[in-house]
Amino acid sequence: MNYRHHFHAGNFADVMKHALLVQLVHALQKKPKGLLALDTHAGRGSYDLEVAQTGDSLARQPEWPAGIGRLWTVDAATLPAPLADYVTLVRDFDRRQGNVGTTPRFYPGSPAILDRLVRPVDRLALWEKHPEECAVLRTEFGGLPRIAVQEADGYGAPRACLPPPERRALVLIDPSFEAQDEFAQVVGALREGLQRMAGAVFAVWYPLTQRARVDEFLMVVRELNPPPTLACELTIAGMNSFLKMKGCGLLVINPPWLFDVAARAILEPLVALLAQAPGGGARLDWIVRETPGA
Ligand SMILES: C[S@@+](CC[C@H](N)C(=O)[O-])C[C@H]1O[C@@H](n2cnc3c(N)ncnc32)[C@H](O)[C@@H]1O
Repeated sequence: MNYRHHFHAGNFADVMKHALLVQLVHALQKKPKGLLALDTHAGRGSYDLEVAQTGDSLARQPEWPAGIGRLWTVDAATLPAPLADYVTLVRDFDRRQGNVGTTPRFYPGSPAILDRLVRPVDRLALWEKHPEECAVLRTEFGGLPRIAVQEADGYGAPRACLPPPERRALVLIDPSFEAQDEFAQVVGALREGLQRMAGAVFAVWYPLTQRARVDEFLMVVRELNPPPTLACELTIAGMNSFLKMKGCGLLVINPPWLFDVAARAILEPLVALLAQAPGGGARLDWIVRETPGA
């Protein structure tokens, strides 16, 4: 496990994933009943982007300037509301953490975003396998009444946590895709999660490095015979580009009502804002369609 999200924090993939995550939570919170938000691959919680720049012995280029950096100076009032929601949340987090500079410094990972959004009736379960990452996560979130932090294999989380007493759940599966069989592990977790709680909302992040590999994954998901499932994708370059990761996707099983409309409002402006080479685009694809009137 060599992956450290710190080097990628605030990149284009985080922007896309986190903007959609905010809308998923908002949509689920339209109902007053509490919910469990389960983050199976939580990371360390939040990131100091200045440490990421200076702390890497390989002097790797930071990725945030081509991600959240591109949105930092944009007037939120000019953005579609769902994208403005995310930008406002991130700017607010950065300011509250003490940044007084003109560039972003403190970036919230999915745990910090979820922590900002949960209501007193909601709960958070944060799973992270890497001991050092989990130790940081625990320092920030351990011991709080609504939040459980677990140092363990996140693929076991659906079995351990579903169905929750609230009978409402959002499950974010955001692996590092280090392992050769990562897509297969995701499918296994989805299979088990759906068996335990077919009504949960599952959101799976995936990289677009090879179109064929992703299409195969989506086909296997379809074979699980899931409830309505929407694939939201953003590419920042054409598939022939020299970039290794040309884009990414968020697969959403049981997307809340009108989530697709919010997703489109997020993805379409991001195509131009986050482009790194010609040929990028946005795509919303119903892997399993909603049944009219259902
Ligand atoms: C892409 S990062 C997560 C980023 C985070 N969800 C966010 O949006 O801020 C993936 C994380 O999964 C962790 N990880 C890798 N394999 C894991 C596993 N089997 N179970 C739980 N965590 C794992 C890595 O250490 C890394 O912190």
